[in-house]
Amino acid sequence: MTILTTQNPINIIQITDTHLYADPAGTLLKMTTSKSLSHVIDLIRAEETGIDLLLATGDLAQDASDAAYNNFLVATSQFDAPLRWIPGNHDDSAVMDRVAEGTDLGEKTVKINNWLIVMLDSTIPGQSYGNLSTSELAFLQARLQHAEEDNSIDHCLIGLHHNPVPASAAWMKDVGLQNGAEFFAAVKTFSKLKCVLYGHIHHELDFKHQGIRCLCSPSTCIQFKPNVSNFTLDRVNPGYRYLRLLDDGHIESAIVRVSGDVFEADYSSSGY
Ligand SMILES: [Fe+2]
Repeated sequence: MTILTTQNPINIIQITDTHLYADPAGTLLKMTTSKSLSHVIDLIRAEETGIDLLLATGDLAQDASDAAYNNFLVATSQFDAPLRWIPGNHDDSAVMDRVAEGTDLGEKTVKINNWLIVMLDSTIPGQSYGNLSTSELAFLQARLQHAEEDNSIDHCLIGLHHNPVPASAAWMKDVGLQNGAEFFAAVKTFSKLKCVLYGHIHHELDFKHQGIRCLCSPSTCIQFKPNVSNFTLDRVNPGYRYLRLLDDGHIESAIVRVSGDVFEADYSSSGY
């Protein structure tokens, strides 16, 4: 576990669902994902100073190639901040592990000041939906239990790819975290847990579930419209999330989107 001592509040930037390809010209529903990411990176550079930690919450590659992950690392290397990543359903965790060999990218816990960050792998190879395995849940509970007993940790944040609370769009009903109820049952007794952070459903959410703040963040490429029956792209631009973690447990957080004309994409598509 890495232990960092930084400013208060801690400044965390979340980037999610970049869907990159080996070929930088690769497109997802006609959006060039490397270009949309580069707009988001430029936005972060303009808006954020003193980044303490970058969290990348999955679907980093669309083609799960070594080159796509290396493209992601090149794009994010512009920031003088540690980066931690977890896989999403479009990723290949074995490839990510290979690319990350000799680095801390895949490290699952980071302690920053009096906060503990725990990153989880919610993927099932070949499936869009997610699940936290028995071993992943046991790991999480052990970390949270340790945090409860550690006087130097006051607050915890969990990061994962899949939405642990069902999404509002009917077409997304079966692609979330299958054992979300089991997940919340497993963590609800840990008083230091303040936040669950995720991606996957390509839109912005900020709500409380069973007393825990849930933050979902938009993709750096295509956006999925909430509260619809069938697959619908939303005409809003890509962005990122910032989280300012205060030492008293409060979290100031918002989405910042690229401004200007709405990015080109196949807005009539019925799926992806
Ligand atoms: Fe995604």
